[in-house]
Amino acid sequence: MGGAARLSAPRALVLWAAPLFPAHIGPAPDPEDWWSYKDNLQGNFVPGPPFWGLVNAAWSLCAVGKRQSPVDVELKRVLYDPFLPPLRLSTGGEKLRGTLYNTGRHVSFLPAPRPVVNVSGGPLLYSHRLSELRLLFGARDGAGSEHQINHQGFSAEVQLIHFNQELYGNLSAASRGPNGLAILSLFVNVAGSSNPFLSRLLNRDTITRISYKNDAYFLQDLSLELLFPESFGFITYQGSLSTPPCSETVTWILIDRALNITSLQVTLCIPQPPFPSLSSLAGNSRKLLSQNPPSQIFQSLSGNGRDPRHPERRCRGPNYRLHVDGAPHGR
Ligand SMILES: *[C@@H]1O[C@H](CO)[C@@H](O)[C@H](O)[C@H]1NC(C)=O
Ligand SMILES: *[C@@H]1O[C@H](CO)[C@@H](O)[C@H](O)[C@H]1NC(C)=O
Ligand SMILES: *[C@@H]1O[C@H](CO)[C@@H](O)[C@H](O)[C@H]1NC(C)=O
Repeated sequence: MGGAARLSAPRALVLWAAPLFPAHIGPAPDPEDWWSYKDNLQGNFVPGPPFWGLVNAAWSLCAVGKRQSPVDVELKRVLYDPFLPPLRLSTGGEKLRGTLYNTGRHVSFLPAPRPVVNVSGGPLLYSHRLSELRLLFGARDGAGSEHQINHQGFSAEVQLIHFNQELYGNLSAASRGPNGLAILSLFVNVAGSSNPFLSRLLNRDTITRISYKNDAYFLQDLSLELLFPESFGFITYQGSLSTPPCSETVTWILIDRALNITSLQVTLCIPQPPFPSLSSLAGNSRKLLSQNPPSQIFQSLSGNGRDPRHPERRCRGPNYRLHVDGAPHGR
């Protein structure tokens, strides 16, 4: 069943895409950058997730890989592993600084080269260095995370992307090699309180400075520790990049306690009601952020994730391990 579904996709592309490609007008697309989350952008064909693996030979894992991310984790299939050590986050006691950046696909925070932030422990056998913090959010509350837990999405997902600094010199080399990457994911709900680290990134002052693609804004004095819940467990599995080239070199670590962001700043900031999602800071951000440069139409940056509901992306028991740290709680 699953195999058949997978095989039909490549044929569909060949038939469907061939007449479209010659119709592309404008500069030839950069093949490394020629993908999107939605198949069609402004009339030009830009391949969405079902086509990533078919348009570029270097991305074939996106179509045929068997450890593809994200996934919808079914908790009843998760095994508790009492031997997993806790995760260790190490900032050397220094404050983080770096650039908040609208990549056209995500809101990313790129830390400056110093200080280095390391993560180790948990399922990680090597020390990994933080390379990017990426924010994914949806067009409505409760949808927007890439990963799901028991078919349930969250309003946003924060992904901390690290590379194995003991084996590799940089992110791109690590993303192609075994044990290359570690991505910590934190889920985000809209609620009455706000995570202090996310508030520094997501407020009207910062977001309006990165409204358009390639806009960047420098931030400093950030305490990364504040991003994390006081105590947490995690679910870990071996998966892939959730963007092309979909390399299956990622140890994912999903933190089991969601963060909150609030509505408070939003109602103060947005002058023109009514917005359907005025109640959330995420709602604010997605109204202000465009995938495009200012010369092009405003296209909301929301919905910037890969769908976990894919037949090949069901969790299989032993791949998923749970670590519980700190106060006891219902798994
Ligand atoms: C991060 O890891 C590297 C390599 O293992 C090490 O040299 C450095 O001191 C670590 N930095 C911190 C802040 O722990
Ligand atoms: C990353 O590391 C590889 C291998 O060490 C090297 O060839 C490549 O030039 C590096 N890339 C960047 C962007 O520094
Ligand atoms: C998030 O908000 C919920 C509901 O308001 C609350 O129960 C929970 O403790 C909050 N979590 C954090 C980490 O503040």
